[in-house]
Amino acid sequence: MHEFDEEIDALAAKILEYSLVRLKKDPPLDGPWSYEELYAEVGETITENGLGGEKALDIFKHVLAQACISTDHPRYLAFIPSAPTESSNLFDLVVGASALYGGSWLEGAGAVFAENQALKWLSDLAGLPETSGGVFVQGGTVGNLSALVAARHAARSKYPAVKRWAIACSNEAHSSIKSAADVMDVDVLAIPTDKNHKLQGSTVAFEIDQYHRNHPDHQIFAVVATAGTTNLGIIDDLYGIGKAANERGIWYHVDGAYGLAALASPRSKPLFKGVELADSFIVDPHKWLFAPFDACALVYRNPELARKAHTQHAGYLDTLDDGHWNPSDYAIHLTRRTRGLPFWFSLATHGTKKYAESMDKTMDVAREAALLIKEHPNLELLMEPELSIVAFTRKGWQQSDYQKWSDKLLNDQIGFVTPSSHEGQPILRFAIVNPWTSTTDIKVILATL
Ligand SMILES: Cc1ncc(COP(=O)(O)O)c(C=O)c1O
Repeated sequence: MHEFDEEIDALAAKILEYSLVRLKKDPPLDGPWSYEELYAEVGETITENGLGGEKALDIFKHVLAQACISTDHPRYLAFIPSAPTESSNLFDLVVGASALYGGSWLEGAGAVFAENQALKWLSDLAGLPETSGGVFVQGGTVGNLSALVAARHAARSKYPAVKRWAIACSNEAHSSIKSAADVMDVDVLAIPTDKNHKLQGSTVAFEIDQYHRNHPDHQIFAVVATAGTTNLGIIDDLYGIGKAANERGIWYHVDGAYGLAALASPRSKPLFKGVELADSFIVDPHKWLFAPFDACALVYRNPELARKAHTQHAGYLDTLDDGHWNPSDYAIHLTRRTRGLPFWFSLATHGTKKYAESMDKTMDVAREAALLIKEHPNLELLMEPELSIVAFTRKGWQQSDYQKWSDKLLNDQIGFVTPSSHEGQPILRFAIVNPWTSTTDIKVILATL
């Protein structure tokens, strides 16, 4: 098992060949199979003596892989797709082959150094100080939770008498904020957005002050603004909210899991004015920064506050406490894959300008999609896209019509677009993060509506 013998050598050739074909070819869309279908084809794969690599690879290639939707297909527009660059995918193979440990400087200095340069690029784009820093974690959910845990830890020492903690965010914040609040056993002050679905700083200030007046022994320990909501791609009033939080000494967290990627484009950067006020922010390279799953960049203005909250202590770990930058100290984790490296490699390879160009391309296609929807006799655009999410409705359709259409679109292998809802009404949305998605792809889908 641990010897690179002739059999493994032959298997390596097959695995690399499969990987290269997958990378070179346009990906198939594919789709889920039922458990029964999969079992009928695959049966039990875990056996006492093993199937052999060739057989296991065949099962993956001919059955399992085909029962997974390719998230990088140009007409995969549901949820938030992924569109890794070729170089980032290739480097993921290197990371897999290298047994790198990304938890500590002692074990992974070179990898951590490179990851930190990629984080610094993001931190500089956001306008955070030189002294900021962070870590790549698994996804936006863990990134948000880790930032909020750091925020509460900092608040606890400031307000020792508080009986109950709360997070303030908009009622359109991502579900992971509510999930973080549940994990942390804190309350959520959900603040209404304005008529354009943006959370405004003045409303945040008013609601926080009212909350503190009404609950004298409760304390808001973090205000979360969203820089690109998942459903509609809306950017909150980052500046106004940041001011409201800063003036009250409350931790300001910006959830930019999807949208903050557009900081990379000088054209869209001004949309994020106010992010520089953040105490922490997240952005997921696996969403719109063209990196493979799974990588969320979590950046803190004052990493020392995060370190105090997250460092694990034990006799066997104290040797790592040597003043070096240990990524495990900045989030809820210990062992970690160097998941930021594929992103770093691609950035280092192509340079940041290419990122801006690719980003602008996706936003141009989103604008063209909005135009096509406005011209379509059966469709109504919900709002002009601010970033690259285009939301719309089909006249006269009920929820079940949307679902039937979505199922058929996938069955016909045309595209993957799932129904969502907005203010209780069913909607459709295209999330365009893939530079391979063209206006023609959009037209192909719109022709079925
Ligand atoms: C705004 C926002 N925050 C957080 C998340 C959660 O990220 P992840 O799925 O990587 O955990 C998402 C996911 O779509 C998101 O759009």
